Amino acid sequence: MDTPLLELHDVVAGYGPTTVLNGLGFAVAPREKLALIGRNGVGKTTTLAAVMGLAQLTRGRIVFDGEDLAGLAPHQRAARGLGLVPQTRDIFPSLSVEENLVAGLKRRPKRALDEAYALFPRLAERRRNGGAQLSGGEQQMLSVARALLGQPRLLLLDEPLEGLAPLIRQELLAAFARLSRERGITVVIVEQQVQEALGYADRALVLERGAVVHEAAAAALREDGATLERLVGMAVH
Ligand SMILES: Nc1ncnc2c1ncn2[C@@H]1O[C@H](COP(=O)(O)OP(=O)(O)OP(=O)(O)O)[C@@H](O)[C@H]1O
Ligand SMILES: [Mg+2]
Repeated sequence: MDTPLLELHDVVAGYGPTTVLNGLGFAVAPREKLALIGRNGVGKTTTLAAVMGLAQLTRGRIVFDGEDLAGLAPHQRAARGLGLVPQTRDIFPSLSVEENLVAGLKRRPKRALDEAYALFPRLAERRRNGGAQLSGGEQQMLSVARALLGQPRLLLLDEPLEGLAPLIRQELLAAFARLSRERGITVVIVEQQVQEALGYADRALVLERGAVVHEAAAAALREDGATLERLVGMAVH
């Protein structure tokens, strides 16, 4: 692997007295598309939270672009180039699409806005619509576009396909693929839509009880029904 963009070494992390991640370790190469999969409650969201500084690290190291992130607040990690699209699409229903995109930003980043609209033309068409009027898929696009306005080098996506129709899921995955291809953005995607995530990603890690229990090329794991059944508990369809 090239020098990794993100490295987790022996990470133990959780929330207050609750330990969720138990010696988690993995690395992500620049421009890589990495899928994190596993049953409910194994610590996928917590992994992303630990990287963003939203869960407490009690042991181990998280290194981004050669810098140990210990002690950095979430906004400082964002400024370093980390972007999170949370599992709950946290958009403001009372604000318009465009207001959602620029909310909290000091200046209006014209180029970044244009890039977000180029990636999601549906959002451009609905830029004056209220967040509450958007379909689930459009809300997810807005949530991703919001993260992109922070100009991340590494984008963490937490179940971006959840609850969306197949066509919209394909549209989102195509957009994520463009991000890596055209802008060199590295992507870590957590997904329960395992087949689709594996079709999109280069490599996959399976988590169990807060640790990596399996690593494989995504295309190979996609065909490995026995392993998927055993570790993720889902039949291949
Ligand atoms: N804020 C929190 N405080 C305490 N415990 C939490 C908190 N968030 C999650 N947990 C616990 O941590 C464990 C792992 O949760 P996490 O959300 O990381 O799992 P997950 O793999 O993302 O699951 P899912 O597939 O359901 O999204 C669960 O047992 C959960 O109850
Ligand atoms: Mg989760």
